[in-house]
Amino acid sequence: MTQAECSKLAVLISGNGSNLGAILDHIEQGKLPAEVSLVISNKADAYGLVRAEQAGIKTLVLENKTYATRQEYDHSLIRTLEECNPDLIVLAGFMRILGPGLVTRFQGRIVNIHPSYLPALPGLHSIERAVKEKHTFTGVTVHYVDHGMDTGPIIMQEKVDIDPQDTPESLTEKVHKVEHRLYSKAIAKVLKEIKS
Ligand code: GRF
Repeated sequence: MTQAECSKLAVLISGNGSNLGAILDHIEQGKLPAEVSLVISNKADAYGLVRAEQAGIKTLVLENKTYATRQEYDHSLIRTLEECNPDLIVLAGFMRILGPGLVTRFQGRIVNIHPSYLPALPGLHSIERAVKEKHTFTGVTVHYVDHGMDTGPIIMQEKVDIDPQDTPESLTEKVHKVEHRLYSKAIAKVLKEIKS
């Protein structure tokens, strides 16, 4: 793969980073024609930072608590992303709503993964709510980020059945398994469209 064919990703995380790990595995296996140029976390103790460092990827911690206002934080994030100039910004468990300026600046170049079959169960605790509300299925959705909460155009989604005996833990495991497969596929699709 030549440099020109290899798309640059900036991945934003807040925690475990298992989706980041799956993306890195797929790149390594040659299944995703991309490179992760930068991993940004808003939490200094996010395990995803360790995964990135082990893979030799540049990391940056931008903690929102160190900025006086949401706007200042977003400006700093925008500046960092402009410097990095990725083809695609990949939210992988980034537990912070992006400000309107950032979303507008990178419109069509930000994707997110959500653990439900959107538009069902947007927002937080989707897996726990699916179990508690006795849904018979939930799913995984990869979508573009727009100004709403999990409302952007859907790129790919897949259903996950919920068995009566499922707990939030067992369902989380099932959902993650699908996420780890689906996200790279959806990213590859978007990159192909961007490059064509
Ligand atoms: C995933 O379930 C994803 O759908 C949601 O946050 C979780 C992140 O998990 N947006 P991980 O940090 O990738 O393990």
